[in-house]
Amino acid sequence: MNHQGLLQPLQLRARLIPNRIVMSPMTRGFCPGGAPTAQVRDYYARRAEGGCGLIITEAVGIDHPSALGDTGLGEDNIPVLHGANALQGWREVVQAVHREGGMIVPQLWHQGVLRLPGTGPFPEAPVSSPSGIWGELGQMTALAGDKIPANVQVGQPMTEADIEQVIEGYVRSAKGAMQAGFDGIAIHGAHGYLVDTFLWANTNHRQDRWGGGRVQRTRFAVEIIRRIRQEIGPDLPIFFRFSDWKQQDFRAQLARNPQELEELLCPLADAGVDVFDASVRYFDKPAYEGSTLNLAGWAKKVTGKYAMTVGGVGINKGMYDGKHDISAVNNLERVMQRLDNGEFDLVGVGRALLGDPHWPRKIIAGEHVCAFDSAALTRLT
Ligand SMILES: Cc1cc2nc3c(=O)[nH]c(=O)nc-3n(C[C@H](O)[C@H](O)[C@H](O)COP(=O)(O)O)c2cc1C
Repeated sequence: MNHQGLLQPLQLRARLIPNRIVMSPMTRGFCPGGAPTAQVRDYYARRAEGGCGLIITEAVGIDHPSALGDTGLGEDNIPVLHGANALQGWREVVQAVHREGGMIVPQLWHQGVLRLPGTGPFPEAPVSSPSGIWGELGQMTALAGDKIPANVQVGQPMTEADIEQVIEGYVRSAKGAMQAGFDGIAIHGAHGYLVDTFLWANTNHRQDRWGGGRVQRTRFAVEIIRRIRQEIGPDLPIFFRFSDWKQQDFRAQLARNPQELEELLCPLADAGVDVFDASVRYFDKPAYEGSTLNLAGWAKKVTGKYAMTVGGVGINKGMYDGKHDISAVNNLERVMQRLDNGEFDLVGVGRALLGDPHWPRKIIAGEHVCAFDSAALTRLT
């Protein structure tokens, strides 16, 4: 197999990503008090040593009281990017990844309506959301019953002042990321969390400047991107993750066709996004009828920006397909066909890299890789 395409560096603004393999963001919950430990540092450094050109960290709570709640991984174990301990922890992670020749960006996260009420570092903080709406109840979801509210109305719509405070929280966390030496910023705009609830018509019923049609619903994301770009300057890339599927509703769609996707993504591209990370469960699933292009492929086509694919690379089952009979597969040939055709530029790998930190080097060398099994989630190997 010719892996040349996968091994090509990619220039993203002033950063040269050494190859096209990216560790996809994965929440782990091993950061007591929000600060990465030496084990977290070594966990990321092993992936860089194993051949990942770029690491997108686990989701990191922004500096805002409503950003984080209990994720089932311990109340206070999700990392943040503010406070001396967290910044020092991240600085050590970044240095360790750089020593191994990799690049690393943090994924900034605000849980919005998916934050469990009354939990997290600030249990009393209210839910943040555009219209106080969780999403339609009774849709296809993998959430446990106790994580689904009894009523669709879970809070009050954010005021102008609330919105400004959250945006400022994003900017402060981006500033923290720069102080820690990160190579750019990734924004979590997917999976039904806060940014996504502004994009999604079902959860954004606003009639002011933060809502309305598809383009108007991008304004919140646009402001975050624009202000982060102002903060970090022109040299570092901004990644934006988006998804059709929501945890509230696996069958949701932000855009039903390429025209709608263009309306959704172009304002974000104009605001300063360099790479669209299209979160799907299967990289080889066509996004729209009449073309084999996947969602990342369409994101690239309609915006002219770089795109990253993800979903089922190196593993036989999609996320949420159950915990049994999961095995490693070598489906790189199909990934590379699409990469070589210019459909997308970067390849995100999630669970395969939890199974084996050296997955990139080994799969390229044709060596045996250790398969992912869900026990890997209980430790940082
Ligand atoms: C344990 C775990 C934690 C995850 N946490 C996040 C996260 O914090 N942010 C995010 O955008 N996606 C998250 N994801 C989704 C992954 O980034 C990725 O999109 C998904 O696992 C599909 O890729 P894969 O088939 O290669 O595993 C997580 C996935 C797993 C398995």
